[in-house]
Amino acid sequence: MPTVTYLNYEVLDDEGWELDDDDLFEKADDAGLDAEDFGSLDVNEGEYILESAEAQGYDWPFSCRAGACANCAAIVKEGEIDMDMQQILSDEEVDEKNVRLTCIGSPAADEVKIVYNAKHLDYLQNRVI
Ligand code: FES
Repeated sequence: MPTVTYLNYEVLDDEGWELDDDDLFEKADDAGLDAEDFGSLDVNEGEYILESAEAQGYDWPFSCRAGACANCAAIVKEGEIDMDMQQILSDEEVDEKNVRLTCIGSPAADEVKIVYNAKHLDYLQNRVI
């Protein structure tokens, strides 16, 4: 079963870490963060990551649940996430910035690392409901 390791974007803000820090997840691992902010999820094949997080009791941001806003956005740092049809992110955001929507996204690798709560990124603000 694929494992998704997650880190809350708000922690980056608080700690002064950058999204492209190579050792971001190592630092998170050493920082003694709460399970809400950093940890891992076992996600079934084809299951949406947002649903899996909710099933484990986490309260991740969302609004439309249909790929039409940016509330549930996450950044893939390792591995891959396949999305259902979406019309809200540009090709550049998907291909170069590695933005994915967790409400319509499932792991496409055994090990996936994401920074969730990425709706706080400036360039996504205009699509957050
Ligand atoms: S909640 Fe709107 S795209 Fe995921």
